[in-house]
Amino acid sequence: MNTTEAVAAIRARLEVHQPVAAIVLGSGLGGLARRIEGARRIPYAEIPGFAPSHVAGHEGALIHGTLGGREVLALAGRFHVYEGHPMAQSAFPVRVVHALGAPVLVLSNAAGGVRRTFRPGQLMLIRDQLNLTFMNPLIGPVGAGDGRFPDMSEPFDPGLRALARDVADRLHVSVEDGVYGGLTGPTYETPAEVRLLERIGVDATGMSTVAEVIVARAIGMRVLGITCITNPAAGLSPHPIHHDEVIEVTAKAAADFEQLVEGVVRCL
Ligand code: HPA
Repeated sequence: MNTTEAVAAIRARLEVHQPVAAIVLGSGLGGLARRIEGARRIPYAEIPGFAPSHVAGHEGALIHGTLGGREVLALAGRFHVYEGHPMAQSAFPVRVVHALGAPVLVLSNAAGGVRRTFRPGQLMLIRDQLNLTFMNPLIGPVGAGDGRFPDMSEPFDPGLRALARDVADRLHVSVEDGVYGGLTGPTYETPAEVRLLERIGVDATGMSTVAEVIVARAIGMRVLGITCITNPAAGLSPHPIHHDEVIEVTAKAAADFEQLVEGVVRCL
């Protein structure tokens, strides 16, 4: 994984100037890409160090254009650890968008609601995270631009969270604050695991995001995290959890999510 090679391949095809943010589009939240004006895309398969995305609801392309009048990059699709990607690989696109000039990373994801008052479709601004994968993308030699022991006392930028809350209020979009717990998947949790997550302070549980946040903080990006709650976590409802349901709910919440992100980007 070589950031310089990936950046050169992207710059050869796209005129990237000074993007205000890079946005990672989570499961079922790729519709935001349709709001990007003058969008040009490069399939992941054509970027050195990227791997094709195989998960339903993930397009697998880097997109460049303007959103809310501001230059942005979007990553439509992720490399999940549950697909067999090493954790450092799953966060590699973060290094690439940073090298392309993006100072802010907006991460989105779909997750199960552990907090009992959460209903499907609720958006949550991530206040903090629990990395429950018991892996870390920075294990190994110190990467270019990384420190050995990056500070993680403010994983999610307080200023960006305040801005997102203001924008949400203005748009009458309901947002809650909460802690995201990242597990590897690919199984959804057991009811006992969800009870444990609840006791240790997790509000929403998912299979992504934590590695990207760690790398982003290590290289000095400001991070905003937005979760779409798609289902009550296991044991909190009588129904089994299906990926199709996850995609269906995100599709319904997509308009709120898209307006929120566009509103935030407009103010960066
Ligand atoms: N658990 C983990 N990941 C998820 C869930 C869940 O319940 N829903 C959507 N992604």
